[in-house]
Amino acid sequence: MSESIQSLLESVSKENRSFPPTPEFAEKARVRSMEEYEAEYQRSIDDPEAYWAEIASELHWFKPWDRVLNEDEKPFFKWFEGGKTNLAYNCIDRHIENGDRNKAALIWEGEPGDSRVLTYFDLYREVNQFANALKKLGVGKGDRVALYLPMIPELAIATLACARIGAVHTVIFAGFSSNSIRDRVLDCGARCVITADGGWRRGQILNLKSIVDEAVEGVDCIQEVIVVKRGHGDPFPCRIKEGRDHWYHRIVQDQSIHCEPEQLDSEDMLFLLYTSGTTGKPKGIIHTVGGYMVYAYQTTKVVFDMRKEDVYWCTADIGWITGHSYILYGPLQNAASVVMYEGAPNSPDNGRFWDIVEKYGVTIFYTAPTAIRAFMKWGEKWPNAKDLSSLRLLGTVGEPINPEAWIWYHKVIGADRCPIVDTWWQTETGGILLSPLPGATPTKPGSATLPLFGIDAAVLDDEGNEQKAGILAIRKPWPGILRGIYGDPQRFKDTYWCKWNGEYYFPGDGARTDEDDYFWILGRVDDVVNVSGHRIGTAELESVFIEHPSVAESAVIGVAHEIKGQGLVAFITVRENATADEKLEKELKDLVIKSIGKFAVPEKLIFSGDLPKTRSGKIMRRLLRDIAEGKALGNVTTLADPSVVETLRKKYQEQ
Ligand code: PRX
Repeated sequence: MSESIQSLLESVSKENRSFPPTPEFAEKARVRSMEEYEAEYQRSIDDPEAYWAEIASELHWFKPWDRVLNEDEKPFFKWFEGGKTNLAYNCIDRHIENGDRNKAALIWEGEPGDSRVLTYFDLYREVNQFANALKKLGVGKGDRVALYLPMIPELAIATLACARIGAVHTVIFAGFSSNSIRDRVLDCGARCVITADGGWRRGQILNLKSIVDEAVEGVDCIQEVIVVKRGHGDPFPCRIKEGRDHWYHRIVQDQSIHCEPEQLDSEDMLFLLYTSGTTGKPKGIIHTVGGYMVYAYQTTKVVFDMRKEDVYWCTADIGWITGHSYILYGPLQNAASVVMYEGAPNSPDNGRFWDIVEKYGVTIFYTAPTAIRAFMKWGEKWPNAKDLSSLRLLGTVGEPINPEAWIWYHKVIGADRCPIVDTWWQTETGGILLSPLPGATPTKPGSATLPLFGIDAAVLDDEGNEQKAGILAIRKPWPGILRGIYGDPQRFKDTYWCKWNGEYYFPGDGARTDEDDYFWILGRVDDVVNVSGHRIGTAELESVFIEHPSVAESAVIGVAHEIKGQGLVAFITVRENATADEKLEKELKDLVIKSIGKFAVPEKLIFSGDLPKTRSGKIMRRLLRDIAEGKALGNVTTLADPSVVETLRKKYQEQ
């Protein structure tokens, strides 16, 4: 067993409490008992093609598929090959035809308190008008379109408009810097960026347009920048570059409200979403239309037990995969009413989320453990001041949840009544793979419990033998699996399919199973750190630091953090003629903000004379972790110079 897994295991609690679904919930649920779960699970594993064909037939296809799963070019799987469909059509038109045109699709709340409700017909009209506007500009099937927007309705509308015309969207979280935008735009050769002249965050307006201006300066592939008016020209006016920039409201105003949905091949590209990996360069994860659509639809339906009566709120940002699958594509395919909130949870005060739950009668609430830990810190008085009785189901995602936070969530937010679904998945998986089913699975605080239908999960050692604790592995492909890394098929194979000779998908997470075969996720086993549910590659940060002329070497590690789950600590060795002082520290932090974004700035920067290395010169990160977490040092026999760690430890304690 690898040392990192061993240290992860140590941190797992001996949690053994179990919470069965309440009879009231189970009675009405889509899957009502473990017997039902087990029977359907077995069926999905015994004959996945029949199972997925049945699910896919609940959706609209212009032309049925010829083949459910094609594994001929494994790991480049194809799902529903030959089928023609459109995801925006399945999210909108299908419900209009089924009589839900006047039902709320999006319930949007702006941070300053403004709000907008779009019915399914409103969404139809707005998506089509924008889709037509894009077409008029010349944007069409296969073109890559970058979106850099705050959480406003136009972000949902623009994403769906791309899906309607077959343009490939790549949403960039609005906390990323101009350099990050530029890297992504260049990597995928985007022809268009959609942004806004502002967006609210904790009472401040973000100047997104100027960040985009800086990002696309001199970038030849960009032909259009479309700007949504959200700011008020105050505090900064918005510069419009003639010929390149277009106001969103102007280009949509005369467009027809109808736009024929493009009949896309099931394996046409739907979107790219960039995520951090173990090397310096973020990877453009490819998802395609048909399989992703079916997987987002089905997982939303069973994990969230979703009905069209539900008022569903996922607090993620659409800039991350959670927002793609479980704000937009999953819930809209299930005809839910989806709440979307623009701003911060503590604006204007710590009770904002509970305000929103009460105001709209939210029935399903899905958030991240890091947010729950912040709510715990702020205290019960905030949720207790509001009526949360509309809630029937709670969910978490993004990182392991500690049992204390789980219990608090269950008791204070869920009034001991709402089941909690702890959902494990990734950008690459397209949708949830491990999760309780709320009407069936007895939950245990901290465990993502069991695999969903069609998911054959195992815990293995490096050689591929099943173990109680080791590395999580997924045996069979499922419809939502990534289809590749944009422009880099070799990296796709190396990253996900090399570990066990191509027999299993390798997600990069450690896990253990217990006596009920429940899965407990232990965190990453690679050099990726999960800060507040945001994935940050340590190599990505290290390559930023090394750009600074005073830095000779750096090593970045993740350490346990009370609220964020994990925080970042950077050890920096400066060059001989450079001074390690506060000025340099500030410069390095600014460099991270400029190169990646504020959310990636390490908690601590430690200037060190040297770093602990093996005799062959490899940095021993686990020793750095031991130092940072104040633990006894693990095995030091391979260390080239033992005095280095002692000096570092002293330094760390002084800081
Ligand atoms: O380490 C796992 C953690 O988040 C990683 C995926 O990050 P990302 O692609 O950004 O997607 C986040 C939202 C799906 C995983 O490799 N992770 C996600 N959900 C959980 C989790 N760790 C433990 N429990 C979870 N429920």
